[in-house]
Amino acid sequence: MFGLSLVVTLLLSVPAFTQVITNANLLPGTWSTGSGAVTTGPGFCTPENTSFNYPKNTGVSVSFTADGFYELARYRFKGNATRHKCITGLLNWHHGTYTVDQTVNSVILTPFGDGYQQIQNTCEAITNFIENYNLTEKYREYRIFQDPVDGNKLHLFDEGGAPYAPMFYKSATPIMHPTKSLRNVSRPVGSGSVKHQKRNAGEMSSSPASVGLVVVALIVTLAGGVAGPLFL
Ligand SMILES: *[C@@H]1O[C@H](CO)[C@@H](O)[C@H](O)[C@H]1NC(C)=O
Ligand SMILES: *[C@@H]1O[C@H](CO)[C@@H](O)[C@H](O)[C@H]1NC(C)=O
Ligand SMILES: *[C@@H]1O[C@H](CO)[C@@H](O)[C@H](O)[C@H]1NC(C)=O
Ligand SMILES: *[C@@H]1O[C@H](CO)[C@@H](O)[C@H](O)[C@H]1NC(C)=O
Repeated sequence: MFGLSLVVTLLLSVPAFTQVITNANLLPGTWSTGSGAVTTGPGFCTPENTSFNYPKNTGVSVSFTADGFYELARYRFKGNATRHKCITGLLNWHHGTYTVDQTVNSVILTPFGDGYQQIQNTCEAITNFIENYNLTEKYREYRIFQDPVDGNKLHLFDEGGAPYAPMFYKSATPIMHPTKSLRNVSRPVGSGSVKHQKRNAGEMSSSPASVGLVVVALIVTLAGGVAGPLFL
């Protein structure tokens, strides 16, 4: 009888509640946006030769270990408001250590220094280059929600308090590269088939905050089904 009434109670309550269950103990594992096309780990990139495997779709993924390591993978597109055919693609990867301030639930990602990103612009003369990426990323807050349909969801907020697209819990075992520096960054990046151009790097590089805006803008656009520029 108790079992039946419990089931009934659960069924009745399921559609109504998405519970906030924010707790740093729930961070370890792998999280990714949308369909999970972007996932951290060896499927996304090979740091040893500074290469990326293009995912089928854009997205963001982050993994955390219980002992303080993280890895982050991003794949985004940016439109150009004045020249609609000019699309910029950004692939970004870094890993390192993370800290959580449990009084305000802020998160800081500190890279090892071996991260890198690839930027492609369909309209620039130099359309494809790779640069090192070693920026500390600060998230003002994280929240974890338990959704009755989607399971646990991770929401990160940028330093201004704007939310990023929610990430779904993809794997309890973090899908990650080894948690140590994997690349000799004193060697030039972009050697081999990929062109490297410093001139564009400053112009195109994104600070953590602007990357966040990009993420939000893209997701808002996709969610709203509105065509148009994806970047702010
Ligand atoms: C980088 O290494 C991976 C794994 O060995 C390989 O599959 C890939 O083709 C390499 N990429 C480049 C650009 O050398
Ligand atoms: C749009 O494309 C033009 C021409 O390539 C470029 O000058 C401008 O900076 C681009 N705008 C953005 C937001 O990327
Ligand atoms: C990465 O950035 C940190 C903090 O600014 C710095 O201490 C470190 O030397 C950098 N690593 C590399 C490989 O540039
Ligand atoms: C990194 O590369 C530089 C230049 O090629 C080389 O002198 C140095 O020994 C390398 N360091 C490691 C740890 O492989």
